[in-house]
Amino acid sequence: MEYLNVFGERVPGIGLGTWKMRGDDCRRSVRSALEMGYRHIDTAELYNNEREVGQAIKESGVDREDIFLVSKAWSNHLGEESIQRACEGSLGRLGLEYIDLYLVHRPNVSVPLEETTAGLEGLMETGKIRAMGVSNFSVSQLDRTRSAASKPVFTNQVEYHPFYNQDEVLAYCQKHKLALTAYSPLDRGRVMRNKTLQEIGKRYEKDPAQVALRWLIQQDSVVTIPKASSESHQQANLQVFDFQLTAEEMEKIRDLR
Ligand SMILES: NC(=O)c1ccc[n+]([C@@H]2O[C@H](COP(=O)([O-])OP(=O)(O)OC[C@H]3O[C@@H](n4cnc5c(N)ncnc54)[C@H](OP(=O)(O)O)[C@@H]3O)[C@@H](O)[C@H]2O)c1
Repeated sequence: MEYLNVFGERVPGIGLGTWKMRGDDCRRSVRSALEMGYRHIDTAELYNNEREVGQAIKESGVDREDIFLVSKAWSNHLGEESIQRACEGSLGRLGLEYIDLYLVHRPNVSVPLEETTAGLEGLMETGKIRAMGVSNFSVSQLDRTRSAASKPVFTNQVEYHPFYNQDEVLAYCQKHKLALTAYSPLDRGRVMRNKTLQEIGKRYEKDPAQVALRWLIQQDSVVTIPKASSESHQQANLQVFDFQLTAEEMEKIRDLR
């Protein structure tokens, strides 16, 4: 596993997305991922699976402090007190004492950013979360959030894969040393059908999903959270640290958007 250093924290470059994982299948998938070496798990109150994610963490036997757990508050919970209640709800369902990184899932223009950041900072001060961040924020929303906050905004989690241009957000994250967490990195499975990714993959005996993930984590400041429920996909998505794309291949993949 390779790690990205963000504000002194080591974040595993590949995490496990859990959107659409539910019930016992979710518990089994998260547990198998932890057992095979995943240490970064992404959930949200919206996903309705925090209970199963928490159970999987306990059953895996992996030390809590070795896991980087991310959850998110939905956009109707962004007031100072409501985000604190939302976080406590998540902690209760997870059965955990703290969340490593807690995100605003989507911006809500009707709630002043100062209220949301005050709520997040309060959660950091009481140790319920270790870092705060945002998701689906534009550069200007991200910039305003950073101005409103007195603590670091750790990440902007956004859709990012070879068919989706995130140049502006990426440049901003790189400049200010926060992470860009790439969601839907496989374009929900569609990367598998792409000829260029297939062709490049053949050179390294990798499949198009592995090439897409390698392309993401080979960029400064990027970590990613592919969702994989099957063990074979989970294994495959970890096999991206033993090859390196050339500058020309990086450019060619960038041109797919
Ligand atoms: N912040 C947000 O608003 C937001 C929005 C969307 C997603 N997310 C997060 O990002 C995570 C990932 O995004 P996503 O779930 O939209 O899509 P994704 O990770 O791009 O794609 C998931 C799909 O790809 C398949 N897959 C995984 N590994 C594969 C491999 N090695 N080869 C072939 N197929 C493979 C999975 O199949 P199996 O499951 O059958 O293995 C699943 O069907 C989510 O789960 C969620 O945690 C956040």
